[in-house]
Amino acid sequence: MTETPVRYSREGDVALICIDNPPVNAIGQAVRTGLVASIDAFAGDPAAKIAVLYCAGRTFVAGADIREFGKPPQAPFLPDVIGKLEALDKPVLCVMHGTALGGGLELALGAHYRLGVPGLKIGLPETSLGILPGAGGTQRLPRLTGLEAALEMITSARHVPAKEALALGVIDGLADAGQDPLTAGLAHAHDLLAKGAGPRRICDMPAPSIAPDQLRDMRTRTAKRFAGQIAQLTAIDAAVGGAALPFRDGMQHERALFQTLMESPQRAALVHAFLAERKVAQLPELAGIAPRAFAQIGVVGGGRMGSGIAISALLAGLDVTLVERDAQAAAQAHQNVAQTLADSVKRGKLTDEGRARILAHQFRAADSYAALSDRDVVIEAVFEDMDIKREVFTQLDQHCKQGAILATNTSYLDIPQIAAMTSRPADVLGLHFFSPAHIMRLLEIVVPDKTGADVVATGFAFGKKLGKVSVRAGVCDGFIGNRILQVYRAVSDHMVLAGASPYAVDRAVTEFGFPMGPYAVQDLAGLDIGFMTRQRKAASRDPREFVARWADVMHARGWHGRKTGQGYYSYDADHPKGRPSPEVEEIIADERRAHGVTPREFSADEIVARYMAAMVNESARVVGEGIAARPLDVDVTLLHGYGFPRWRGGPMHWADAQGLGALLSQIEGFAREDAFFWQPAPLLQQLVRENLSFASLNS
Ligand code: CAA
Repeated sequence: MTETPVRYSREGDVALICIDNPPVNAIGQAVRTGLVASIDAFAGDPAAKIAVLYCAGRTFVAGADIREFGKPPQAPFLPDVIGKLEALDKPVLCVMHGTALGGGLELALGAHYRLGVPGLKIGLPETSLGILPGAGGTQRLPRLTGLEAALEMITSARHVPAKEALALGVIDGLADAGQDPLTAGLAHAHDLLAKGAGPRRICDMPAPSIAPDQLRDMRTRTAKRFAGQIAQLTAIDAAVGGAALPFRDGMQHERALFQTLMESPQRAALVHAFLAERKVAQLPELAGIAPRAFAQIGVVGGGRMGSGIAISALLAGLDVTLVERDAQAAAQAHQNVAQTLADSVKRGKLTDEGRARILAHQFRAADSYAALSDRDVVIEAVFEDMDIKREVFTQLDQHCKQGAILATNTSYLDIPQIAAMTSRPADVLGLHFFSPAHIMRLLEIVVPDKTGADVVATGFAFGKKLGKVSVRAGVCDGFIGNRILQVYRAVSDHMVLAGASPYAVDRAVTEFGFPMGPYAVQDLAGLDIGFMTRQRKAASRDPREFVARWADVMHARGWHGRKTGQGYYSYDADHPKGRPSPEVEEIIADERRAHGVTPREFSADEIVARYMAAMVNESARVVGEGIAARPLDVDVTLLHGYGFPRWRGGPMHWADAQGLGALLSQIEGFAREDAFFWQPAPLLQQLVRENLSFASLNS
């Protein structure tokens, strides 16, 4: 941070108020204090006829300082600072570049005129952090755009591009391309002075209204889209309630609702998710380590996973060569990639020219490993079989240049064993993508002991370039995510054996906030995948482990889930999302009889309690064994790869919020029924003994 994060100066009759608080000019207490001083200086400077408020650095203010949330608020408060700016009797022009978000946009709404620099994006993303725009955003924005457009912006939390902001009337104009905020601001300020423009305060503009049935529709749509969350509906209440009151009372109404959200567990969870996503790539072992080059990418295997990885790299602007086993397979892979790129154009993710450019210049499919000889990073995505991997890595070792990074996308095979197949184990690591690889944001970077630190740093730099959230994982079966998944799937089977229906489990879990329950997910992935996993693990399995035989019966009948029209659910044209299957319930009932189980009732609360306890316990093991570097790495993995509800922060954050002592007692209670499955994780026991939280291990 510079000495004073807000500077006041004057050029002729134009006062300049510059916020300079890297990296994103967040408004913390020092900035608020500096703004008050600058506003006073402008008010008391008779030579200054107009003020230009702008930011130094890469962006306008990206919001209030999120790191201050949850701490005792310190004066001056942002709504007061903005009110003071708006009340000035000389005009203020705000010039925005980069992203003007949250408190940043609210500050701009307190100015009398607003200019955007091309490339600007504006937004009120507070609801995505579990709060609402609490510095006048719900009161001022609707006065400019009408309630409907303002509420769409506030509830969606989306970033609105400059042209749309102009059309909505949030900004008055756009600077010329290439102009910096100061130059554009000075020119526009002189124009305003020449026109004799005075203060133009949004608080003096009439409040908009909304028809009751339109409001009802909006509330219904919002409640459905953000099921379980409170911030979006509360923001609607703030805006609509405030619009019916005089401006000053509307501001108080907004503030009161803002305070309740600020204290909510959802706010704490969402802010945790935001900060954890950024912290996940900050690993002490990588400090000061420069990544290797990774402009030239190779992919081995053009199936769903390989082509998804290729597309992800292509969309990030990288050059990709994909190798398949023969010319026909290479042609097919080329077609898969071209088709997915065409779909990306349809989805608005890519322009037609972009697609043509990628196919002409960035991508080629080949049938020989020799085509990979100039690649910086090669990612293998072939069938999960050690003999096939051996063939691939032997070839890669022969053909790839020295210093090339050789990565495997395996989900569970032993990566050190794969690395040992090459003459360069320090250059080998796991890059575990999630399907579809060009859409899912999670990337597990799996690091065997022998992997070089610069290779790991390259993995993170590559993940960042692809727009992924990358998490470091150690070597074990399933790494972080799939290892935890296996355990909460297992506890689901335990409950089903004891009497819960798979449908009740799925219902309880979706009510908790997951988009799908474990059985619907298995249907989607294909029950043949689960079958293969069970086969693979059969030899090494502890005999005390319960394995649901009903899944084998279903598999033997050819019920492989959605793709065959029958899995745990039955799918047909009338039920594309599936309906419960009485035949499945019969197969399960047979197994209960075989085990001598008298089925009992499970409430939704009990299902969630056991599901979450199993998830947290295994997560604690994963952290305790060093497979995940910190609890936050588990949270980010589950949030981005497994549909964990973001507003609950991830399993470790959720566990802290429940209280670890209570969770451990619950697990010990379950252990009295099944001591093998419910062995408490040593890390959980230790934290309870020492009265610490998972969060204490995050820093
Ligand atoms: N407060 C504090 N720190 C912030 C911040 C904020 N509002 N926004 C970003 N940062 C920090 C990040 O944590 C990160 O820090 P580290 O380098 O230490 O990890 C750094 O700034 C850079 O951020 P990104 O890595 O995210 O950079 P980016 O270029 O990819 O994205 C951005 C920039 C679009 C602004 C993105 O950071 C972002 O979306 N920020 C949050 C915006 C937001 O939600 N604002 C509303 C805040 S709530 C509010 O304003 C309401 C109110 O009045 C009380």
